[in-house]
Amino acid sequence: MDGQLVDWAEAKIHVLTHSLHYGTAVFEGIRAYPTDNGPAIFRLSEHVTRLLNSAKLLSMDSPYTQGELEEAIILTVAESGLESGYIRPILYLGYGEMGLNPLPCKVNAAVAMWPWGAYLGDAAMESGISVMVSSWVRQDPRTLPTAAKATGMYINSSLAKVEALRAGYDEALLLNMEGYISEGTGENIFIVKDGVLITPPSSAVGALQGITADSVRILATEMGYEIEEQLIRRADVYLADEAFLTGTAAEIVPIRELDNRRIGSEVPGKITKQLRQAYDACCRGSYGIHEDWITLAKH
Ligand SMILES: Cc1ncc(COP(=O)(O)O)c(C=O)c1O
Repeated sequence: MDGQLVDWAEAKIHVLTHSLHYGTAVFEGIRAYPTDNGPAIFRLSEHVTRLLNSAKLLSMDSPYTQGELEEAIILTVAESGLESGYIRPILYLGYGEMGLNPLPCKVNAAVAMWPWGAYLGDAAMESGISVMVSSWVRQDPRTLPTAAKATGMYINSSLAKVEALRAGYDEALLLNMEGYISEGTGENIFIVKDGVLITPPSSAVGALQGITADSVRILATEMGYEIEEQLIRRADVYLADEAFLTGTAAEIVPIRELDNRRIGSEVPGKITKQLRQAYDACCRGSYGIHEDWITLAKH
């Protein structure tokens, strides 16, 4: 926290922390994977770049540079003693000045790490997940800068997630204001139709520009698949041959059914499985290429 290693139980903040009241913190979700050489942090620099971009979008001046934040994350992973897990860097407006104007507030930084298994359940890769289209619509780029990963924006995801879970589904997909598919509550979406991968253009539909989605695009291109960025309707997902979600927490997870309509003929679909295997190998530095995607945090 702010340059100091703090014991888990002591990692506390004041109840009048500005970001707690106004949802103005920006954060990242990063995973570290086990390797023979210690934990490997996946696409560290891309995550820190997005964190600083999120801060910029909220007019928040980070007191730490890209390099300092990367060092802090490597140190936290190394000191945690964990072989793998989820890493949460956060920049937040701290205690001191209340009131809506964020500009006088001090920016604090923290990095935490904890063990976290399969976000959508251990069976998700083999059996796929059931998804509903939420009645909540994704926040519009005219309402908020949707490219920012800011805490307040997750009220939208949280409402959709609770709605889905209470209705007996694993996850929700949100439409944008025009009725096109935007993204999951914490994941981007891809569909496969006639061997072509299709994903919505994130800025147009108000989705976060996913780093997992970027990795998937690169891997799929290398495998020789065609990828199209285009607007998709829920019916396009119903009629897809395969559909899957991508995210740091969720990784790559097949969608078995959307709104109780089964997607494709097998779960996981062939291309989903192939991409997941490649992604898993990349995360552990064993794919043969893309070793620059991982940063080792030796113990
Ligand atoms: C709303 C939302 N969309 C998409 C993603 C996927 O992004 P990434 O692959 O960078 O984790 C996330 C996770 O960070 C998210 O919270």
